[in-house]
Amino acid sequence: MEMTADRFSSAARAARLAVWDAAPRPFVTPSLLNCNFARVGEELDALRKAGVVGVHLDVMDGHFVDNLSYGASVAKDWRRVTDFPFDTHLMMSDPGKYLDAFVDAGCDIIVVHIEVLPNPVPLLRRIRAAGCRASLCLNPPTPFSAIAPYLDEVDAVLVMSVHPGKGGQSFMPEVLDKVRAVRAARPALPISIDGGIKPVTAAEAVAAGATQLVVGTGVFRPDGNYAAALAELAQEIRRGSQRGSVPTETAGLPSHE
Ligand code: DX5
Ligand code: ZN
Repeated sequence: MEMTADRFSSAARAARLAVWDAAPRPFVTPSLLNCNFARVGEELDALRKAGVVGVHLDVMDGHFVDNLSYGASVAKDWRRVTDFPFDTHLMMSDPGKYLDAFVDAGCDIIVVHIEVLPNPVPLLRRIRAAGCRASLCLNPPTPFSAIAPYLDEVDAVLVMSVHPGKGGQSFMPEVLDKVRAVRAARPALPISIDGGIKPVTAAEAVAAGATQLVVGTGVFRPDGNYAAALAELAQEIRRGSQRGSVPTETAGLPSHE
């Protein structure tokens, strides 16, 4: 079963990122936080059969957020059994300290929080130099102006729609103004949204301009029918897309250069 070393090569990463880039958007990336960790191989298989393109890994350090989840060694074991692109959300006080471990583990998109990075540019450049995609994330209270100066340094922005730290919380609609602000500032930049996404909120997020929806408890529902959950989400995403792209009202947002 050790035909997997190749999954850690830079060519394998480039191939995964090509799949990621080619995926029709908006799309759903399930967060594995709420999957059954005793059966991750089976969970990944079920997601693949349901048409998922990539998965979201929530890394919690017990310091930046209250909870602990898992680290790079776990991600590395998962990489041995899947070709899914790993969208890796580092909810950590010191993401730079652990970046190399996540790159070596076969992670592909690395998401770091602006709240812990007075100047995110060196870390974003390290992420890209490693062959990964760099994404900047902002928590609900953090204004768009905090990330506005760095939009040329990122491949994506992730807007948190709950306070990070656990799954199953309620969506905070007020963050959609930040999605609109990013969309207005960079019409082509991928925008992810994370937290409390269910069919109704998925439509709202897409209408505001989100291109990637991170969904935890909304996919890993108790009946185990992930395909049905994803189909319901897809239906509402289509509705949200049709509702018409990007509202222009950005009144009340912090100004930015
Ligand atoms: C929140 C995490 C999310 C979250 C998603 O701390 O970053 O990825 O677990 O879970 P739901 O969809 O249940 O909010
Ligand atoms: Zn996340």
